Amino acid sequence: MAIPIIIDTDPGIDDALAIMLAAASPEVDLLGIVAVAGNVALEHTSRNAAALADLLGLDCPVGKGAALPLWRDTHFAPEVHGANGFGGYELPASQRELEPGVPLLARLIEESAEPVTVVAIGPLTNIAMLMSEHPETARKVERFVIMGGGTLRDTGNATPTSEFNIYFDPDAAARVFRFGVPVTMVGLNATHQALVAEKHLPDLMASGGPAAKMVKHLLNSYHDEAGVAAGGEHGAGMAQHDSLALAAVIDPAVITTEHYYVDVENTGRITNGMTVVDYLGRWGEPNTDVAFGVDVERFRNLLNTRLTELDTRLKEA
Ligand code: RIB
Ligand code: CA
Repeated sequence: MAIPIIIDTDPGIDDALAIMLAAASPEVDLLGIVAVAGNVALEHTSRNAAALADLLGLDCPVGKGAALPLWRDTHFAPEVHGANGFGGYELPASQRELEPGVPLLARLIEESAEPVTVVAIGPLTNIAMLMSEHPETARKVERFVIMGGGTLRDTGNATPTSEFNIYFDPDAAARVFRFGVPVTMVGLNATHQALVAEKHLPDLMASGGPAAKMVKHLLNSYHDEAGVAAGGEHGAGMAQHDSLALAAVIDPAVITTEHYYVDVENTGRITNGMTVVDYLGRWGEPNTDVAFGVDVERFRNLLNTRLTELDTRLKEA
């Protein structure tokens, strides 16, 4: 039985691979995609979500959620994802009608015969708004699987202590962790293990179709200080933050988790947006399955196999 999922996302280079993986995996039933501001402004993330859904031939609805964090100023990341969010890769503009994002989340959760797993791979603003505007609906969610946060030494990229998705809207994130629905946190301490370069996706690169072309561009769109494309043919690999979170739903064995109470600092002067794992068990019953280990080869093989199957299907469409 396929797991019903909704992807809440700020596409976004790594978001694109995650959405492709979901579209290619029969283990999940993608009910809808909801865009949120994050990597780039909502006008770009929502356009990208719709255009990607068209490319992938998805008939699920696409929603347009929050343009701003609950209270904070915005911190987009065009230096990482490019001004358009896809590293300059242009997809044909979609003609889809985008629905209001938070009502779409609520409708899809209510309409699903089975409890829905919400996979949040951007800032958590839409999710927090769902919880405040539709609390009883939010409680029907099976689990929130989030790409966000981190632990121990590897907890920050936006700042030394804070990962981007949490830092963009720490107040929203604090609400999500405290809400009471189980959370799986796929943080930087896990995703920084999930390095992917062209050489790890040999069948996809050889396939050469529309998905392969876009993935190749995205893997080559982020360059390190030496000017080497981290995901390119000579790169060590680009951390696949979001697709690891999706992979954890599709094939849970790609990660190993431990159960802890996790909270989010949202008032700190220098720690704002930090996810804090309570290893001492002092703050409350564990609320989060925290990802620690990654079976990198299993993850890379899943990406290579599924995205190649997707690319073959798109070439034949
Ligand atoms: O810190 C990485 C996360 O922030 C990823 O989801 C990336 O797409 C950005 O949203
Ligand atoms: Ca993202």
